[in-house]
Amino acid sequence: MMIFFITCLFITVNGQCPLVCSCDDHDKTANCGNQELDAVPENLPWFVQDLTLSENQLTRIPKNAFPSKNNLLMVNFRNNQLVDIADGAFADQKKLKTLTFSNNQLTRVPTNGISSAKQLKELFLDHNKIQMIRQKALYENSQLEWLHLAHNNISMIAGDAFSGLNQLRFLNLEGNQIKAIGARVLAHLSSCVILDLSSNLIKLIHEDAFKPLSAANTLKLDSNKLTDNSFPSNVFERSSKLEVLTLTNNSLAMIPPPEVLNGLKSLSTLSLSANQIVLVKTKGMTSISTLRRLHLDENRITILEPESFDGLKNLKELDLSNNKIKSINNHRFDDLVDLEKLDLAKNTISSVESASFTKLHNLKELDFSKNKIEELDPEIFLYNKKLHQLSLNNNHLKIPHVNWVKNSDHLSVQLDKNPWTCGCHMVVFLNSFLDGRHSATTVLNQIICDEPEELKGHPVNDIDEGHMHCWQEVDLLWDAAVFIWFLTLIYIMRKWRILQLCCCCFARRSKTT
Ligand SMILES: *[C@@H]1O[C@H](CO)[C@@H](O)[C@H](O)[C@H]1NC(C)=O
Ligand SMILES: *[C@@H]1O[C@H](CO)[C@@H](O)[C@H](O)[C@H]1NC(C)=O
Repeated sequence: MMIFFITCLFITVNGQCPLVCSCDDHDKTANCGNQELDAVPENLPWFVQDLTLSENQLTRIPKNAFPSKNNLLMVNFRNNQLVDIADGAFADQKKLKTLTFSNNQLTRVPTNGISSAKQLKELFLDHNKIQMIRQKALYENSQLEWLHLAHNNISMIAGDAFSGLNQLRFLNLEGNQIKAIGARVLAHLSSCVILDLSSNLIKLIHEDAFKPLSAANTLKLDSNKLTDNSFPSNVFERSSKLEVLTLTNNSLAMIPPPEVLNGLKSLSTLSLSANQIVLVKTKGMTSISTLRRLHLDENRITILEPESFDGLKNLKELDLSNNKIKSINNHRFDDLVDLEKLDLAKNTISSVESASFTKLHNLKELDFSKNKIEELDPEIFLYNKKLHQLSLNNNHLKIPHVNWVKNSDHLSVQLDKNPWTCGCHMVVFLNSFLDGRHSATTVLNQIICDEPEELKGHPVNDIDEGHMHCWQEVDLLWDAAVFIWFLTLIYIMRKWRILQLCCCCFARRSKTT
């Protein structure tokens, strides 16, 4: 009887939700978040699989913090003050799948604390103070698929640090202090699909560094200290599955040369935005012909050499905005037969040659805004029949041409902030919109006249056509008719007068006789 009673009591105690938590036996959760806890609550109900201990004051997780009866799959310690996770802290939690230690004060990877969590798939250690990753730091957690180490203070990663992690698919090391990637730092990551190394101090990369990453799809190296010398030849030799390579916000002065890009057989996106690239060299990218998106915005490009984009027959998007390009010359884009989007905004382009875009039969969006273009050939877009969006705003254009807009279907044109001359060309251009002669659209009240003086500052749709200083053919014919009629009249009058004079003479003469 006594034994029975004690057992009952034990079961109820063990099955009750701690006062500071709220439990749900349907969802199998216990939420003990934001309770100013400084210790892990004891005696969690057996049904809890998902335990939240975030926003508390925990500093340490002791050995065997959770009794062996628990069935925990996920534990969340986000936003505590954890400095230490004791060896064997999760010794009995063999089913754990997700552990979250984000936003704590950990200075090392809790190798022995979590070594028994053999089923662990996701480990969050981001926003801590980890300084280094030792060899085989997570060797026992061989089922790990997602590892978050972003925003720590990691400056050292030992060779073979990720040994054992043959299932790892995602590794985030963003926002650390890593200066170099040694030959064996990324060893064993043969399943890794996404690797983020952005916002570190990386300057040196060993020629073998990326070779283990044979499954990698995305490699991010934005905001590092990379220069043209950082990439050894053939560094991407085994990166045949890499589709996305981002090198934004580094110190590259050149597009990486063919001997560096060599091996990138599936590359689809290359981002080189915000570097110091000055020149796009002839045939520099022929080895990455699979490329679909190329971002070269925010560089210092002044010159596009002939055949600079040769070989990029699959390119859909080319961003050259925010550079120092002065002119667009014929045939620079001739090989880009698939190009759909070309961004040339925010340059200093003043001249555009008339055969610049003749091969871009698939072009849909062209952005020329914020340049210094004074004139564009009337036939410049003759071959861009799919053009859908044309931005010519913020330029120095004076004269619009109907032919810019008449060739493509449902084109939307931005024309504001140009010093338009409101004369004959403007009348013809406007009438082409008003007549519905093509399907193009524009916002007429954004086209503001700069000349003639008396129309300065007026939007074109506010001005009566008669004030635009334009005599069209019909007007001219009418004027000519009036003029001829007038001449004839004078002639007749003069003849009549001669007749009259004759009559007079005759009359006078007959009188005298
Ligand atoms: C980061 O680590 C360095 C040593 O590598 C140390 O001097 C520095 O204080 C650490 N910074 C923080 C914020 O912990
Ligand atoms: C570019 O990188 C520097 C460090 O190299 C960083 O301070 C800055 O915030 C980054 N800029 C952007 C826009 O990411």
